[in-house]
Amino acid sequence: MLTRLIYASETTEALTPAAVQHIVDRARLNNTRLHLSGLLLFDSRCFLQVLEGHRAAVSELFGRIATDPRHRRIELLEVTPVHERRFARWSMGFAAADAAHGELFLRFGGAPEFNPYAMSAAGALGLLECVGAAHVAAAQPPRAACA
Ligand SMILES: Cc1cc2nc3c(=O)[nH]c(=O)nc-3n(C[C@H](O)[C@H](O)[C@H](O)COP(=O)(O)O)c2cc1C
Repeated sequence: MLTRLIYASETTEALTPAAVQHIVDRARLNNTRLHLSGLLLFDSRCFLQVLEGHRAAVSELFGRIATDPRHRRIELLEVTPVHERRFARWSMGFAAADAAHGELFLRFGGAPEFNPYAMSAAGALGLLECVGAAHVAAAQPPRAACA
């Protein structure tokens, strides 16, 4: 069964860009093998991650991620069966949740700052999709912007 899981967390200690890149590199390797896809947003303190794939694989990976000492305060925003993937293009996409996305934080989170703990599941999904679309648009223009 295809499943989507979204969670928020915060770093236990400051992570260097190289340390974050290492997480993403390992994720891409493992997720490709496990037929998982998703996207990770990070603002240097909080993570917002979506994982999608076979329910057993999503569960197994989330069990590992949840015990990773590099982050804490893991809060599930959504676990739901889905008919299709929304993030199929990435084994694990990565984007900075920076001020450039302030309008999206406002639209999907109700405040101009990135605070995934305050977001609804629908808001988090909308934000992830729009940031992902912007990422793709920036890399390979032209492409329709997220409406
Ligand atoms: C915020 C965050 C997101 C992560 N996302 C993934 C992921 O999508 N896939 C993955 O395999 N590991 C992810 N990890 C790392 C796992 O917790 C774990 O360290 C890793 O899966 C172990 O695999 P390895 O032995 O191949 O390094 C993440 C860690 C953190 C802190």
